[in-house]
Amino acid sequence: MILEGEHVRLRPATAEDLPAYTRWYTDPDFRYYMGAEGETFDTLLSPRPNGANFSVEENGGRLIGFVFVTGIRTINRHCELGLVAIGEPDARDKGYGTEMLELVLGHCFDGLGMHQVSIRTAEFNERACHTYAKIFPHEMRHRECVWSDDRFWDEVYFDITEEEWAARA
Ligand SMILES: CC(C)(COP(=O)(O)OP(=O)(O)OC[C@H]1O[C@@H](n2cnc3c(N)ncnc32)[C@H](O)[C@@H]1OP(=O)(O)O)[C@@H](O)C(=O)NCCC(=O)NCCS
Repeated sequence: MILEGEHVRLRPATAEDLPAYTRWYTDPDFRYYMGAEGETFDTLLSPRPNGANFSVEENGGRLIGFVFVTGIRTINRHCELGLVAIGEPDARDKGYGTEMLELVLGHCFDGLGMHQVSIRTAEFNERACHTYAKIFPHEMRHRECVWSDDRFWDEVYFDITEEEWAARA
């Protein structure tokens, strides 16, 4: 499955992408915002019946990020955008993350027939909160469940329904 946008292109993630993913995770700043405790991306190498892993390329083919659809539930028609990142620092704040999320949401609703899609981040990730709030109209919090910088932070959940997605078009 290829999802083509104006500035970015989403394609299935493959084992060849692992060196770039690993390089991004060596950046402490990236790990801080990803909340990662040593991601290995083993799932890239095995089939995922209830998920879909996309790598993101900018025009010209440079690999710049990833977005993983996780926990697809067929009866509830719900899934989550589990791992989300623009990994290349110079590719952030150019609108690519917003376009990537819109493309993958189009796939979740129009391709997979989902009813509701959610995404979450820690409240200290202000750029992610801002980006998600632009697209996902509903927000809720799990209070004080993230430990970072010697204190607890809320985890912020954002979601959008198929009706709300259709109304955006
Ligand atoms: C979060 C992330 C996916 C967003 O992708 P992106 O390509 O940078 O996002 P966009 O350029 O589409 O939009 C960024 C928005 O955040 C705003 N922004 C940037 N820094 C900000 C900050 N510190 N606080 C609040 N908003 C901020 C930008 O102005 C822009 O909003 P605008 O379109 O209203 O001007 C990306 O920055 C990223 O991967 N960061 C590092 C890893 C990470 O945090 N992943 C998410 C984990 S849940």
